[in-house]
Amino acid sequence: MNASDFTLPMTSSLRPACARPLLEALRVAVARPVLLIGMAFALAAGGASRSACADDTLYRQLGEKAGIDKIVVGLMARLHADPRTSEYFINAPDRRIREKLDEQICVLGGGPCTYTGRSMKRSHAGEKITMAAFNALVEDLQDSMDENDIPFRVQNKLLALFAPMYRDIVEN
Ligand code: HEM
Repeated sequence: MNASDFTLPMTSSLRPACARPLLEALRVAVARPVLLIGMAFALAAGGASRSACADDTLYRQLGEKAGIDKIVVGLMARLHADPRTSEYFINAPDRRIREKLDEQICVLGGGPCTYTGRSMKRSHAGEKITMAAFNALVEDLQDSMDENDIPFRVQNKLLALFAPMYRDIVEN
């Protein structure tokens, strides 16, 4: 995934919730050289602390892959029905958009997915997407999350991650 596509939650650096268990482990390991060497290898490999600490809270709050797909299906239906957005989607590859949006939201939520789609700039280039259409999509996404019983505060977390993308999507 292209880092400029959208703002990723912090997954590759130590967040406070992760730092504490790691420091505790380090304290224990200092007394045991074998453990200390093991930890050094694990950290150098980059995997152990990262996967143990990955914050997938939002992903889980959105209902994981199945829940996210329901939200996206609801969003796509609304985008087709909404007079503010429908024209953009007349000849759009719905199945692909659904699949890529599923991946994108999963990644944004900290879930175990990889985004395999194009950058936001490339996907929307030439679509002449207005700010009004972008705001309409945000409203349609909110409605779909409402329908899927996603709490307001969780909705806001996802919307906050979507909002900055307008820079790469809106053309005028
Ligand atoms: C934060 C807001 C948005 C996100 C996260 C988003 C995400 C995506 C993704 C993941 C794709 C597929 C990328 C690929 O093909 O590799 C896509 C394609 C597309 N999006 Fe968006 N989008 C957003 C806003 C909008 C808006 C506001 C519109 C129009 C109202 C729109 C219209 C389209 C269209 C028409 C395509 C298909 C382009 C094509 O391949 O023909 N998108 N979008």
